[in-house]
Amino acid sequence: MQNFTFHNPVKILFGKGQIANIAAEIPTDAKILMTYGGGSIKKNGVYEQVKSALSKHNLIEFGGIEPNPHYETLMKAVEIVKQEDINYLLAVGGGSVVDGTKFISVAVDFDGDPWDILSKAAPVKSAIPFGVVLTLAATGSEMNTAAVITKAANQEKRHFYSPLVFPQFSVLDPETTFSLPPRQVSNGIVDAFTHTMEQYLTYPVNAPLQDRMAEAILKTLVEEGPKTIANPSDYDSRANFMWCATMALNGIIAVGVPQDWSTHMIGHELTALHGLDHAQSLAVVLPSTLTVKRDNKWQKLLQYAERVWGIDQGSEEERVNAAIANTRAFFESVGTRTKLSDYGVGLDTIPLVIDRLKSYGYTALGEKQDVNPQTVEKILTLSA
Ligand code: NZQ
Ligand code: ZN
Repeated sequence: MQNFTFHNPVKILFGKGQIANIAAEIPTDAKILMTYGGGSIKKNGVYEQVKSALSKHNLIEFGGIEPNPHYETLMKAVEIVKQEDINYLLAVGGGSVVDGTKFISVAVDFDGDPWDILSKAAPVKSAIPFGVVLTLAATGSEMNTAAVITKAANQEKRHFYSPLVFPQFSVLDPETTFSLPPRQVSNGIVDAFTHTMEQYLTYPVNAPLQDRMAEAILKTLVEEGPKTIANPSDYDSRANFMWCATMALNGIIAVGVPQDWSTHMIGHELTALHGLDHAQSLAVVLPSTLTVKRDNKWQKLLQYAERVWGIDQGSEEERVNAAIANTRAFFESVGTRTKLSDYGVGLDTIPLVIDRLKSYGYTALGEKQDVNPQTVEKILTLSA
């Protein structure tokens, strides 16, 4: 096992009715900016629950944060924060609202051009504290330090990390997700599954606890995913799925093990260029990444085949092939298509993706830093 330092201070308020408890988490004299997306929270009752929980607090609102949140929109919120002397943020929504709020929180007092936080990994020195009411299980943003932001002007999708953007608390009430359209539930399953794979499906470093925790998340997603798609208001399966998504990317399964993340980096470019949902881009890239990088990943692919899919018969090659085929079939079975052609994207995208990755310096991705432009070409060709 590799050395590691682990710290995750996010307080989780899990379960039905927990929104009512947020007033106790926010200082009474805070001036709050509540951030949200395109309006789903006004249709499913979450908006009213938050307003009623914070009826004694001083609160103003900023709506309209898009999926794949736009830098330009977030900078408008930054202006409001400055004008109104806001000193607390409350993100109410999915990963895009949470990520957008993380960016607002660090951009307000940033000395210089805030885009540098994303494009140049410019260090951030301060952040406005914030809490989260999560309405979509997928990204893990509610319990991690990452945010992914898109500049609409040139469709650049970039990310930053900072320990300053751990939420102070996150409410995970599965009932708030009952109103999700099937496509977003499917996206959430695929995103959580892929997050787990990026941290698990690399090479063995004798970390059996991390392996089994990752396998537990994968197996639970395989069991609960189809149930929660079939019965959106089945509280128990939605609760199990929601906790899987948080555990998949809160840092716990990443400790002491190598990580890949090449599927995410390639996928982000497909979203930026062609508008695929984040999880759709992952469903297209992951099976091909596993196929192209199978030699690096051989031992873990065999372990994954046996422990997640129960495949223990046949030659090693047959087991590896079956595990990758099962991964693709699982994504399709929950409703996310896995080929570029399913989204009307042709192979002419390959040079564009590669040019963008090169311009960001992403020419040595993956757990062995050997996913280079030629590898990306192979992966995307296989995803046709
Ligand atoms: O905007 P509203 O009206 O709220 O509608 C949203 C949006 O259209 C809707 N929605 C959310 N909760 C709902 C709901 N509709 C009905 N009922 C509810 N309860 O769902 C749509 C998608 O929302 P979005 O927040 O974009 O989805 P998701 O949570 O999948 O977030 C995706 C973003 O997160 C980034 C992605 O790149 C993408 O920008 N990621 C962030 C990560 C992180 N911070 O660690 C890691 C991930 O790998 C990912 O890259
Ligand atoms: Zn993701």
